[in-house]
Parts: sequence; C-alpha cells; structure tokens
Amino acid sequence: MSHYAWRWGSPPPPVKRHSEVKHALLRNYLIQYFLTLVSMPSQDRIKLTIVDGFCGGGLYINESGQEVPGSPLVILDAIREAAFLIQTKQDRRKPIDLDVELICIDKSKSALDYLKRLLEDRNYGAALAAGKIQLVRGDFADHCGAAIQRAKDRSKIAGRAIFVLDQYGYARVPVTCLRDIFATLGHAEVILTFYIDALISYLNEANLAGFEQATGIRGGMTAAEIDDMKKSPKWRVHLQSSLYQSLTSQCSAKFYTPFFVRPERGHGDFWLLHLSQHWKARDVMATTHWEHSNHFAHYGRAGFHMFSTGYITKIDSTDQLQSGFDFSDVAATVSQDTMLEQIPAMLFEATDGLTFEQFFMQLINTTPATRTMVEEALLALNERKEIQVLGLDGEESRARVHLKADHVLRLPKQGRFNF
Ligand SMILES: C[S@@+](CC[C@H](N)C(=O)[O-])C[C@H]1O[C@@H](n2cnc3c(N)ncnc32)[C@H](O)[C@@H]1O
Repeated sequence: MSHYAWRWGSPPPPVKRHSEVKHALLRNYLIQYFLTLVSMPSQDRIKLTIVDGFCGGGLYINESGQEVPGSPLVILDAIREAAFLIQTKQDRRKPIDLDVELICIDKSKSALDYLKRLLEDRNYGAALAAGKIQLVRGDFADHCGAAIQRAKDRSKIAGRAIFVLDQYGYARVPVTCLRDIFATLGHAEVILTFYIDALISYLNEANLAGFEQATGIRGGMTAAEIDDMKKSPKWRVHLQSSLYQSLTSQCSAKFYTPFFVRPERGHGDFWLLHLSQHWKARDVMATTHWEHSNHFAHYGRAGFHMFSTGYITKIDSTDQLQSGFDFSDVAATVSQDTMLEQIPAMLFEATDGLTFEQFFMQLINTTPATRTMVEEALLALNERKEIQVLGLDGEESRARVHLKADHVLRLPKQGRFNF
C-alpha cells in the first residue's frame, strides 16, 4: 500500500489526526499501566512483553508537516517516561526495573528496514543488539503463537503481556489468536483496531463469508438476515451491535471496552477495543479514555446497559453522528445523572442486596463509567437515602468517600415499592 511506504532517505508517510490521537491514548495508557503496577512498594521488577503486531516503519509526517512517532517509538517513549515518573514521583527505596521486551512484527520488508535504521538513529541500537527489541518479518497471524510463547517464557507465573494489534482493516487478526493469547497468558491485554465502517459498508454475502473465514468470528447472521437488516433505517447500528457482541463474546477476554474512534471529518469510525482479563486494566483504560475527550466515543448511552438502552451512532443516510457519547465533561455529568436514575431500579431485584464488588463486576462491560464514577454515584444515592450501604456487621455504613468491595448495597425497605 503506497500510503504506508517507508524508504530511508525519503520523507515518511503521512498520518491522520485520529491516528495521532490513537498514539496519544496508547502512550498514556502504557504510562498509567506501569504506574498502577508499581503502586505496590514491594514490587521491584516488572517483566512484560509488548507485541506490536502491525508495527509499521515507526515515523510519519502529520497534517501540520511535523515528524511524529509511530507505535514502536510511542511504546518505547512511554516506557522511558514511566521509568522517569516512577523514579522521581514515587518515594522508592529500591529502584524499579522495568524489564520490557518489545517484539515488532510487520509483513513489509521496507517498513522493518526503515524501523531498524530509525531505532539505531534514536539510540536503540544496543537494545536491538541485546534482543530487547526484536524485529520480525511476516504476517501477524503466523507469528502470534511464537510471540505468545516468548511472553509466557519471560513471565511464567503472571503471564504479563500487551498486544498492540493496529491492523489495517478488520480481517487480519484471527479470533483464534485472541483466544490463544488469553488462554496462555493470565495477565494479557490486547489493544485492537477494527475498521468497523469499512466492514459494514461493504458487507454482503460474499465478504461476510470471507470475513468469517479470515477471522473465525461468526457474525451470527445469514446473508438473508443482512439483507433484511439493511432495509431498516438503523441497519448500521444493528449490524455494529451484532458484530461487536460476536467479537467480544468469541475472543474469550473477560473485560472489554466499547469505545470507538471517530475521525474528525465524518466517516470511517473504527473500534479501538481493549480486551483484558482484569477489571483494573479495563478501569485504567476507561480512565485514559476520559482524559481524551472529544476524540473517542462509546457505543450507546451513558450509564449502564448501553445495548439495551440503545446503540446509537449514526443517522444512516448522512453518516452523521446522531448523538454519540463522547468523554467530555458534559458526558460525565450525563453519565452520573443516568446512573443515579438507573441504580435504584437495578437494586430492586437483589432482595438481599449486592456487594459493591458484585454490583460493579456485573456491569463493568456495559458502561463507559470508571469504578470511581460508579462509586461516586452510589455514595450520592446513599447520601440521599435512596439506597443503603451496609458494613460487614449488617449496620448502615458511614462511608462517605470510598466504598469497600464488601460493602453491601440495597434499597431501603420502603423504597422497594417504588418501581
Ligand atoms: C496502519 S500501519 C501500522 C501503524 C503502526 N501500528 C503505527 O501506529 O505506527 C499497518 C502496518 O501493518 C502492516 N501489515 C499489513 N498486514 C499485515 C499482516 N497481516 N501482518 C503484519 N503486518 C501487516 C503493513 O505493512 C503496515 O506497515
């Protein structure tokens, strides 16, 4: 593809603004990832493998004509910055060792040649020579198994790895790779790009079969159903919802984010899915999204159960966002108000109450809110006496700032009749 041509001595290829935003998110997420992990003072070493499965040549020219880093440099910069922040901001007795190996995979020889020159130029020659950065040529799908094994060998017990899978399109990451990642590595995370608009625009009987064959994701639809769906004015929305549920249910990750990136000039939405096995990882990613308001949106409405409350994105004919949820201050307020409305009704079913942990875990994948935001909504409802928070002794808790995982949430007795 000519727009991704890297040739040493020639200017690097152009990059769109939304890719820069994606890079900013990746960088900030990685920094937060390390800061969260080292918050335990006893921790003095983090052994992690990062796999950049579609790494590219590592440098671009942005829309203002400036050179900007591609994902391999973004990752390396984030590691350096995290190490610096940990050393300077945290009062650590022992220095922390961030033992990270970066595996960069790309099928293009020219992209990898360029990346090698670039890394040497940016003082990563020694890391390349020591195998701390590895450049692998070929299809990601063919090298996924070896990358998983390498990550497992390096982190046998924790199984710590991050896979950055910035594919072009939607068909280059087979769901079997995702399943293998999560089956083998207990602390694996995947950040997956998925050009949903490209798939949906061209979806028909032939390419649905091609998509299912390439990815192993069963869309759960027959060609006749697609035809039927396309007759409805909201067909894009239905199709996205259906594909999203197929992908997230088949990849076997426990936690995922429903966020997508909306390029500034109209169409070409893509998903930036974060798949993980631990709620904390998902929470750190959700928090990072809130820090990048205006560029990210989330499918569905504020509050919980985004699918049942409506899966809104676009007016079909014009490709304009109808009322997409962004991560702005307004969205935060709407989110809070929606939760205040929804929570009492949600506790209605749980006659004996639910612990904060149970409540949050049931809902985490259905909301753009972070754990802190959910906690704030619950505390506000407690303050207004619309719900009760009980301690382990069964007595009403005085918690005003934080909830413990085992605090029990329930409706006050008289509140039970209100729904
Ligand atoms: C969107 S660019 C990469 C961008 C890079 N992640 C970044 O953010 O700077 C996509 C890259 O994927 C590579 N590629 C395409 N298909 C691939 C495949 N099946 N396996 C590995 N690399 C592939 C292309 O050669 C290209 O360099």
